[in-house]
Amino acid sequence: MDPWLKLSVLVFMWFSFNSQLSLGADTISANRSLSGNQTIVSSGGSFVLGFFKPGNSSNWYIGIWYGGKVSERTPVWVANREIPVRDTQSSELKISDGNLVLFNESKVPIWSTNISSSSSSSVVAVLEDSGNLVLRDGPNSTTPLWQSLDHPTHTWLPGGKISLNKRTNQSQLLISWKNSEDPAPGLFSLELDPKGTNQYLILWNRTTQYWTSGPWDEQARIFTLVPEMRLNYIYNFSFHSDENESYFTYSLYNPDTISRFVMDISGQIKQLSWLESSKEWNLFWSQPRQQCQVYAYCGAFGSCTEGGLPFCNCLRGFHQKSQSAWNLSDFSDGCERTTKLQCEDNRTLTNGKPDKFLTSPNVKLPQNAESVTATSISECESTCLQNCSCTAYAYDSDG
Ligand SMILES: *[C@@H]1O[C@H](CO)[C@@H](O)[C@H](O)[C@H]1NC(C)=O
Ligand SMILES: *[C@@H]1O[C@H](CO)[C@@H](O)[C@H](O)[C@H]1NC(C)=O
Ligand SMILES: *[C@@H]1O[C@H](CO)[C@@H](O)[C@H](O)[C@H]1NC(C)=O
Ligand SMILES: *[C@@H]1O[C@H](CO)[C@@H](O)[C@H](O)[C@H]1NC(C)=O
Ligand SMILES: *[C@@H]1O[C@H](CO)[C@@H](O)[C@H](O)[C@H]1NC(C)=O
Ligand SMILES: *[C@@H]1O[C@H](CO)[C@@H](O)[C@H](O)[C@H]1NC(C)=O
Ligand SMILES: *[C@@H]1O[C@H](CO)[C@@H](O)[C@H](O)[C@H]1NC(C)=O
Ligand SMILES: *[C@@H]1O[C@H](CO)[C@@H](O)[C@H](O)[C@H]1NC(C)=O
Ligand SMILES: *[C@@H]1O[C@H](CO)[C@@H](O)[C@H](O)[C@H]1NC(C)=O
Ligand SMILES: *[C@@H]1O[C@H](CO)[C@@H](O)[C@H](O)[C@H]1NC(C)=O
Ligand SMILES: *[C@@H]1O[C@H](CO)[C@@H](O)[C@H](O)[C@H]1NC(C)=O
Ligand SMILES: *[C@@H]1O[C@H](CO)[C@@H](O)[C@H](O)[C@H]1NC(C)=O
Repeated sequence: MDPWLKLSVLVFMWFSFNSQLSLGADTISANRSLSGNQTIVSSGGSFVLGFFKPGNSSNWYIGIWYGGKVSERTPVWVANREIPVRDTQSSELKISDGNLVLFNESKVPIWSTNISSSSSSSVVAVLEDSGNLVLRDGPNSTTPLWQSLDHPTHTWLPGGKISLNKRTNQSQLLISWKNSEDPAPGLFSLELDPKGTNQYLILWNRTTQYWTSGPWDEQARIFTLVPEMRLNYIYNFSFHSDENESYFTYSLYNPDTISRFVMDISGQIKQLSWLESSKEWNLFWSQPRQQCQVYAYCGAFGSCTEGGLPFCNCLRGFHQKSQSAWNLSDFSDGCERTTKLQCEDNRTLTNGKPDKFLTSPNVKLPQNAESVTATSISECESTCLQNCSCTAYAYDSDG
């Protein structure tokens, strides 16, 4: 083969490859998909989109994380939260029938932007420098067909909104990860009160409310139960309401600040800012203020100690139900009995002593507590002891 011909082929290939990259380093188009370790980077370099693997997990997810100065891989949005892929080389994120679609190893679609569209071949997905992934019909179209800021996962970025749809009374949820290595929806979520009171709530398992911001005070520009917002010099919050929706959004007074809100696996909403000097995220604020105020944080038969390391322990006579989940900071499985109760297992009595109670200070009654009438503490105790499903009792002067 003529060596000159070989060289010109190489040069030609290099050119076409290079021009494809420079055409849309921030864009996924009909001509450009993502797989393996390929990424797209927003025009100013602030955000990156591609496959990532959380911690020691062997699962891969399509996500958006910070680029530029933020040296710690920090996902702010996840597409396939619940359906990971194991092999990124044979998985592909691409434009298909007017949507952005993730195909797994067997070419089966497992996630999609899921809009009904004219399946136009000019649809492109552009990662903007705000961290917003926008699907448009053609690179110059101004109205987005879909955008990731409208579908937040666990992070609320500047410019984003956590809204209430007034037509359906459906609120949008910011949902924590399941654990430090699994972005699937966890137990803790933040939402705008569907009753229209203009306050944010944090719920456990989508139902049990354990924190509220208090209603918005437009004059003071704070949430009434978050008075420390008066001292806030980072976030410019604003409230918006029309016949279709209401929401809060925020911008950063200093656009060079790198800052975010996250519904954390701790069950707290956290404000974090990137500190360039120490190259780490700095916690500015979190609510509820105390870890042990998070509902059922340590699970059944767990006990939470504020400031303890770890926060969660099991009550005496119990052990962790899932050591591996606890290692990933998911304590929700709680603890289980090390030895069965007599009423569950007849053998216990023959080898040992009868069941008895231990006093546990600093606890309150559970939400589904039952009352019985008892005239003394010992009657209360024996009533509970006789009922195998009674696990604890409390007695006060009302009986
Ligand atoms: C995709 O590639 C084809 C041919 O290679 C070209 O005609 C078309 O304009 C490209 N489309 C986009 C959106 O770049
Ligand atoms: C991307 O993957 C290819 C193929 O597996 C590998 O050769 C290359 O080094 C990787 N690049 C980076 C930046 O990791
Ligand atoms: C992840 O793996 C590294 C190295 O094997 C280990 O040091 C670390 O403790 C692991 N992290 C978790 C959360 O298991
Ligand atoms: C791809 O997804 C389909 C549908 O969920 C599933 O049946 C199939 O096993 C997946 N392929 C792989 C390799 O996981
Ligand atoms: C797309 O929407 C349909 C109906 O609205 C739903 O059943 C389906 O699960 C959605 N698919 C994805 C990948 O989100
Ligand atoms: C988009 O706008 C740019 C600059 O305004 C222009 O050069 C380009 O031709 C436009 N592309 C399309 C597809 O309209
Ligand atoms: C939504 O909630 C408002 C205020 O509570 C109520 O007036 C309205 O009827 C509700 N709408 C729907 C569709 O449920
Ligand atoms: C959360 O609620 C669902 C029912 O909506 C229930 O099946 C599930 O067990 C609850 N999770 C926990 C951890 O209690
Ligand atoms: C705060 O946000 C509001 C609404 O977006 C805007 O009008 C105002 O100029 C902003 N204030 C500052 C100091 O940036
Ligand atoms: C509310 O929704 C309707 C129907 O989608 C739309 O025509 C109207 O412009 C919306 N109003 C506002 C203030 O966005
Ligand atoms: C949990 O972590 C401890 C200490 O890091 C380790 O010894 C243990 O093997 C881990 N257990 C599981 C199930 O991952
Ligand atoms: C306990 O013993 C009684 C009588 O000996 C028997 O009827 C019952 O089935 C036993 N219960 C269990 C859980 O073994």
